[in-house]
Amino acid sequence: MRYIGNKENIIDKIHNILTVNGVSGESFFDFFSGTTNVAKFYKKLGYTVSSSDIMYMSFCLQKAYIENNDEPQFASLISTLQLSSQSLLFSTPLEVVVDYLNSIDDVEGFIYQNYTPDGTANLEIPRMYFSSENGKRIDAIRQQIESWKIKALITDSEYYILLTCLIESVSFYANISGVYAAFQKKWDPRATKKFMLRPIKTINNNKLNQVYNADSMCIADKITTDILYLDPPYNERQYLPNYHILETIAKYDNPEIKGVTGMRKYGNEKSLFCNAKTAIESLNYIARTANYKHLVLSYNSEGIMKQEDILAILSQYGNVRLEQFQYARFKSNSNGLSKTKKHIFEQLYILSK
Ligand SMILES: C[S@@+](CC[C@H](N)C(=O)[O-])C[C@H]1O[C@@H](n2cnc3c(N)ncnc32)[C@H](O)[C@@H]1O
Repeated sequence: MRYIGNKENIIDKIHNILTVNGVSGESFFDFFSGTTNVAKFYKKLGYTVSSSDIMYMSFCLQKAYIENNDEPQFASLISTLQLSSQSLLFSTPLEVVVDYLNSIDDVEGFIYQNYTPDGTANLEIPRMYFSSENGKRIDAIRQQIESWKIKALITDSEYYILLTCLIESVSFYANISGVYAAFQKKWDPRATKKFMLRPIKTINNNKLNQVYNADSMCIADKITTDILYLDPPYNERQYLPNYHILETIAKYDNPEIKGVTGMRKYGNEKSLFCNAKTAIESLNYIARTANYKHLVLSYNSEGIMKQEDILAILSQYGNVRLEQFQYARFKSNSNGLSKTKKHIFEQLYILSK
């Protein structure tokens, strides 16, 4: 999934650096989990994993990839669906259900009504996040998943697995240039393809993994883990506005929305890490309050917390090392017209007690 700060491409490197620095154990807590890619990596290594994020869409991914260990069987559901015996033959139960969801009738629901050109034709600037057809398909699938849950035809983990399939699939068809803070004014070829739900792959580590949908500040005092991994936002930009539609698809709560982009309110999902002063105070609180052997802070050389402040805070609680590596990233010039390659350091602050 395209997600700001996604560690998918550098988690190997992070892990190697942590290993060289003696950071290991049996339990791992991914405290700002986002896409869950870091938690998934440590789950595959056999750690008992916990994860948390303030965003509900991330919580859905955590339930499916981290807490859940089973391949979903959909035992109650499948017998109620009108399926040909052939469709059951060569497919996993998840593929069968995904196939079924790809065949149901369209519905003109919240996504169609608010994020597609036909649904918003009355607005001065009609919204072009999804083609009108794809908006209806997303609504149909989202409503069907909810209805199965209400009728108790699917288990709790099957529910989150299907929501995760939807959240992951939507990103392949959204008419955006990376984040949902704006839609493109012309159709990206990706967005004009017919929406098809895709199955996800579950992971089993045979451990009792736990996941939370919480502000890290509210649960820091309840944590006990060998490795506490922190990957908070680096700058003033809050995550919710950048992913507001994924959050709405996950919650499907008919929110009050406003503005050109149809943004939902997010007062209770604002992060203290998006302000330099409150970020450093929050880091101090977590480092002081949580119970861990190693605390690892992933940060960025352009982040709003200053290196000397981070080192000063963390060294109150143990031995601190700073490791960093360079990677190239494309960044818009200040005039926003052209793109230049910019070298940025990915930093790992490693605190061991
Ligand atoms: C840099 S991203 C994490 C990326 C993640 N490591 C990955 O690989 O996808 C930061 C995450 O922190 C979450 N977040 C921000 N403030 C938070 C808070 N106070 N408590 C919990 N999560 C928070 C955001 O929702 C976002 O998902």
